[in-house]
Amino acid sequence: MAAGKISLIIVFTIVHLFLLVNCSKKPKAGDPDPKSLLPKTFLPINYDVFLYTNIKTPDFKFTGKVVIQMTCIKDTSELVLHMMNLTIDHNAVNYKCVNSTGNGTKAKSNKYDKDLQMYSVTFEEPFKANQVYEVYIPYEGELSEYQMGIYRNSYTDKNNKTSWFATTEFALDNARYAFPCFDEPNYKATFSINIGHPKDLNVISNMPLENSGPVSNKTNWALDTFKKSPKMSTYMVGFHISDFTNKKCESGSVPFQIWTYKDQMNQTDLAADVGPKCLPFLETYFKSKFPLPKVDLIAVPGIYADNEYWGMIKFSESDLLLDKEHSSVTTEYYNMLGIPKMLAFMWWGDLVTFKSWTDLWFFGSLPRYVAPLALDTIFKSGQAPEWTFLREYTYKQTSWCLNQDSKSAAQPLNIKADNLTKFYSLFDDNAYDKGAALMMMLSMSLTDKVFQEGVQKYVELYSFGNADHDDFWNVLTKVAQQSKTLPAGLTVNTIMDAWTNKAGFPILEVKREDSVLRFTQKRYVSDKLGNNTDNTAGSWWIPLYFVGPKSDSIFNSSQPIWLAGDSKISFDSKTVISNGQLDVGNSLDKSDWFLVNKEMCVPMHINYDDQTWDLIIAQLKKDHTKIPVMNRVQLILDVNTFSGHNLMPFGKAFDLLSYVLKEDDIVPWRATLEFLWVDVDYYMMRTEKCEQFKAWARQLIGPMYHRLASSPKPNPGNYGLRILSVHMNIAAAAFELPEQEEKMKSEFDNWKKSPATYFVHPDIGFSPFCIHIRKGTRSDWDELYNLYPTCTSVDVQQMLRAALACTKDPEILTHYLKVAHMGNDSKIATEDASAVFTSVIDQPMGFKPAKDFLFNNTDKIYNLSKYSFPAYVKYLYKYVMTDAELKEIQDYAAKNDKYLKDYKEYLKKYEDVAKQNIIWQKENYKEIADYLTANVKQ
Ligand SMILES: *[C@@H]1O[C@H](CO)[C@@H](O)[C@H](O)[C@H]1NC(C)=O
Ligand SMILES: *[C@@H]1O[C@H](CO)[C@@H](O)[C@H](O)[C@H]1NC(C)=O
Ligand SMILES: *[C@@H]1O[C@H](CO)[C@@H](O)[C@H](O)[C@H]1NC(C)=O
Ligand SMILES: *[C@@H]1O[C@H](CO)[C@@H](O)[C@H](O)[C@H]1NC(C)=O
Ligand SMILES: *[C@@H]1O[C@H](CO)[C@@H](O)[C@H](O)[C@H]1NC(C)=O
Ligand SMILES: *[C@@H]1O[C@H](CO)[C@@H](O)[C@H](O)[C@H]1NC(C)=O
Repeated sequence: MAAGKISLIIVFTIVHLFLLVNCSKKPKAGDPDPKSLLPKTFLPINYDVFLYTNIKTPDFKFTGKVVIQMTCIKDTSELVLHMMNLTIDHNAVNYKCVNSTGNGTKAKSNKYDKDLQMYSVTFEEPFKANQVYEVYIPYEGELSEYQMGIYRNSYTDKNNKTSWFATTEFALDNARYAFPCFDEPNYKATFSINIGHPKDLNVISNMPLENSGPVSNKTNWALDTFKKSPKMSTYMVGFHISDFTNKKCESGSVPFQIWTYKDQMNQTDLAADVGPKCLPFLETYFKSKFPLPKVDLIAVPGIYADNEYWGMIKFSESDLLLDKEHSSVTTEYYNMLGIPKMLAFMWWGDLVTFKSWTDLWFFGSLPRYVAPLALDTIFKSGQAPEWTFLREYTYKQTSWCLNQDSKSAAQPLNIKADNLTKFYSLFDDNAYDKGAALMMMLSMSLTDKVFQEGVQKYVELYSFGNADHDDFWNVLTKVAQQSKTLPAGLTVNTIMDAWTNKAGFPILEVKREDSVLRFTQKRYVSDKLGNNTDNTAGSWWIPLYFVGPKSDSIFNSSQPIWLAGDSKISFDSKTVISNGQLDVGNSLDKSDWFLVNKEMCVPMHINYDDQTWDLIIAQLKKDHTKIPVMNRVQLILDVNTFSGHNLMPFGKAFDLLSYVLKEDDIVPWRATLEFLWVDVDYYMMRTEKCEQFKAWARQLIGPMYHRLASSPKPNPGNYGLRILSVHMNIAAAAFELPEQEEKMKSEFDNWKKSPATYFVHPDIGFSPFCIHIRKGTRSDWDELYNLYPTCTSVDVQQMLRAALACTKDPEILTHYLKVAHMGNDSKIATEDASAVFTSVIDQPMGFKPAKDFLFNNTDKIYNLSKYSFPAYVKYLYKYVMTDAELKEIQDYAAKNDKYLKDYKEYLKKYEDVAKQNIIWQKENYKEIADYLTANVKQ
């Protein structure tokens, strides 16, 4: 797949399990270097945390005290705890042995290691092994302005009133900013949280409120005491102090509430509906009651906030709240997906916790796989027949992660790093989606029933404890061997070895010689520059499910045949192919088509011999419904990739794609539109054959556009059809489909009558505006530009800005860049100027005006925003298609080195994109041009 264009589709920022943007501090927990771990001299049992804060004062201070009950496991005179940015009242620190009465033993001396973030305190009497102690530590701190530890933030309501709140961000290892503690995930303990605060605020924490009492000495304050938690890791502790209000949900196995500030309460309906419905599903899936007595979902204003604390889940506002009537279906879909995912973490991650942060990918994966399953169970009615949340997820996330994981720089899931800083620098969010794809692979190949049983066993075995991925493979192996869904002697550990320890994924080559299928596999690497060989040893274990015209033997097996990867054991089994060959006997005639990888069970590409491809294409054209829907998706993804990388002629790929004229199902259409609009159009849009390419694309998509546009509006719960319509609209606008132009005209006219109030639904998006500008004159452009300020909605403004770049007149584009960047009374805010630049350069006519504008106004643009300046150069690279253009940009970058010298690595990546674009043009353009000449009706 190509680098992709700047699109108006709301790009889903794949949600982190944790906030991984880390600051300058050196992370510690999980670091294998023993020096950075706490000495193993104590085990915490319980924390009593008291924290008092008045968020309203300007100094944002807090005072606190913690009593840690712990068992000493080795004689020592020193206690070492994690602590950061707290001022401890050393003179008051003391401990008591819980078995004895009398006064505490006072602290004698202390030291602090800032690098390790460790506080060590020595006492007048040493600790003795096997005794239980309570250490008392009073301290003060400041609510951070950064999103770490315990921090402050504010929101402004519709009456312009600003209110402050305090909230926590303890993952991965920041509880130490709120109280001294054993801040490593395997030190699990119970927590009693007590928060003192002004009475008119309220507090949410992991557990339900037990009691709210007065605070001695502080009138109008309350001390909220929460019930003692089950055993958990420090990073799962959380609290939130604010003036938010809540919506109590009707159903659910435990009390379920959604929190936001008052103005936004009317946007909590989606969460209130989806959330409680997911719980019974998850309780069944994990065969374990929701582990805590209640759950709160909180919409936290500010930057990225999605994070699960046990019993209390925080979301960024835009990920939890939804104005159902005015939001795009894409936003709704991703918000829905986020809720069961976050709830699944309550079991997978919180009830069972990792031993080390390096298993982040593993604990992040299963909840992503389970989320669409939950939604498919809950919202099965009203959907298009072949569309499911799981298929949408599999298509979108698997194809995206295959794309990312095909880069030569991709990392394996199990990252080898000496320390956590290095780990962070290598960790990529794709790991979660790749992991989810592997969970699906295991679930399908061991059978869903066995997989689920394994999940349940694992949760049962390791509840309130710590475990890792190997523990899960072991449990799964046992269950699968008992149920005989794994060939004797084969373990899940063996299967998963290459999938988790090798970077990337395989391309499987299947060649048919008479009745024998020959399989070869290698890593698929998409980079065209230099090093594109696989330098990690080993090969993958691949479960093979076959699809073919006959329904006997291998084509109808519920269990896969395993293509062996590396293994020390040799398998004497009909269900393991050890020599790369499978004799299918007479289940396949010479003239029969066949496919492997039913339902896209395995995340991989598959290439066949020419004759098999021809048979597949012929079958698609004759009766595509004989091929399962996700295999049609796989075929489209594969030929998209292969044609762009010299593994298949474009003519053949386009020939295959032309079957979609008869395609009715949603997910294959999603893949088709992406192939045409996102991938090929990116390369073709500035070539001589651009118009012919669009004409060809119109031939393909026109009939489906017509069917969608002339059927009744899909009901709101038909997510698949609504999502497809959005994408179809975007593609139709790009390919200038006449039928759409007519339809959109009335939408535009209606809007123009009352631009401040007429609502253009984001599902229709910017098409009406874009078409109007594309077909219009300079005076149409001026008119829309002048109306821009009358729209106050950020979404509509964003659509209008992009639409203003739809003109085909380079002079208007130059004018647009000028007024956006340096107009005296520009209608466009300065901070949106760079977005105008990206909209312009994304247009077929936009490269030259954008380039000339930047070249002629370098200093001015730099002075406007020196931080976004490198991004301007980046975008030029991204759209380079010829050697001459590349040289021009390289010369420009060299000439302006003074502005770019700190961004060399960042720009190098895009220089490489430019180089790959040039290679693509040299390798593929002529072939596509010939195909178009032969196949487009003039
Ligand atoms: C100290 O008290 C704890 C809890 O009260 C008890 O479990 C432990 O056995 C006692 N230890 C000794 C040495 O008496
Ligand atoms: C405990 O402390 C109190 C007050 O500081 C003091 O009066 C008392 O003598 C102490 N008891 C012992 C056993 O040290
Ligand atoms: C910790 O304290 C330092 C020094 O006061 C401050 O610069 C930093 O922002 C603090 N960190 C956090 C996360 O509050
Ligand atoms: C809110 O405050 C901003 C700037 O402080 C001001 O521009 C705006 O007009 C105010 N809005 C209302 C509704 O008072
Ligand atoms: C407030 O409480 C502290 C101890 O908690 C006490 O020393 C002080 O005398 C109290 N002040 C007032 C005004 O009651
Ligand atoms: C929600 O309430 C706010 C004001 O409280 C209002 O401006 C907004 O239009 C409402 N939204 C919906 C979807 O009702």
